[in-house]
Amino acid sequence: MPTSTSPDSIKERSTQAAVAIRELIGKGMRPPRAGVIIGSGLGAVSAAMTSPSVVEYRQIPGFATPSVAGHRGRLLAGDLAGVPAVILEGRYHYYEGYTMRQVTFPTRVLAELGVEMLVVTNAAGGLDPAFRPGDIMLISDHINLLGDNPLRGPNEDGLGPRFPDMNGAYDPDLREAARRVAAAEGVELRHGVYVAVSGPNYETPAELGFFRTVGGDAIGMSTVPEVIVARHAGLRVLGLSCITNRALAPADRAREGVGAMTVTHEEVLAATASGAAKMARIIAGVIGEMAR
Ligand code: HPA
Repeated sequence: MPTSTSPDSIKERSTQAAVAIRELIGKGMRPPRAGVIIGSGLGAVSAAMTSPSVVEYRQIPGFATPSVAGHRGRLLAGDLAGVPAVILEGRYHYYEGYTMRQVTFPTRVLAELGVEMLVVTNAAGGLDPAFRPGDIMLISDHINLLGDNPLRGPNEDGLGPRFPDMNGAYDPDLREAARRVAAAEGVELRHGVYVAVSGPNYETPAELGFFRTVGGDAIGMSTVPEVIVARHAGLRVLGLSCITNRALAPADRAREGVGAMTVTHEEVLAATASGAAKMARIIAGVIGEMAR
C-alpha cells in the first residue's frame, strides 16, 4: 500500500514536479498565490497575464501531453493583476483515458507550488433554459456523475483528510468577489450547479432531462476532479463555466419552442471566443483583490 514516503506517492511526485518547474523558470519565479486552470477554447484568458514565463507540460515530470483540440499543454508563470500566479493552459480529461490521479496531478502540483486559490474554468452546455452561448456561469456547487473519484484509494494524510467536506467547495467569499467584479465590469454573471459527466459523447435528450431534474444548471466533462483535489488540499476554489451551447431537457425544449439540439466540438470552441474575454476580466479582478 503506497504511503506518503513511497517513491510513487503523490506528495513525492508533486514535489519533484514543483522543483522542476521552479528550476525551469529560474530565479525570477515569485511564489504563486493563485492558480488558474483554463478549459477548452478558453486560452484567451491567459492574455490577462503580462510577459509570462512558459514551461511546456512535456518538460514537467509527471505531466502527460494533452491530446484534445483546443488544449495547448503549457504552464505560464507571471503576474495576474499584480499577484504572482500560475496558469495551466490545457487540462487532462477523464474521457481521454487518463486516470483520475493523472487528471488531478497538475492541481496537486499547484498546491505544492503554494497557491492559496484555484480558479477553474470550463466550457459547458446550458441546462438552464435562460442560459445562452457566450454566457458566464459562476459555479455555486457541483454534482459528480463521473462515476469515479480522484481520492479513491489509500489516502495520503500529508495531502489532506480521508473524508474531506465539500460544503462551500466553491468559496462563498470568492463567489461574492466574482459578483462584485462582474458588476463593476458590466459583465452579466449567471450562477448555478455544474454537473460533471465522463463523456466523450454529448448527452441524450433523456439524460439532459435527468440532469436538469436532479438540479443541474450546466453540464460538462471536467473540473469536478480538480475541485475535489483542490478542496482535499485545502485550496479555496472559484469556478467559472462558459456556456457554449444550450443543452435543454425535452420538456424545456418544448416550452422554449426549439427543435433538435445537436452539438459539435467545433461549435463549443467557437462559442468560447466571446466568453473567454469576459472570464479573463472576472478572474483578473478577483485575483487582483488578493493584492489588497
Ligand atoms: N455537454 C457536455 N459537455 C459539454 C457540453 C455539453 O452540452 N458543452 C460543452 N461541454
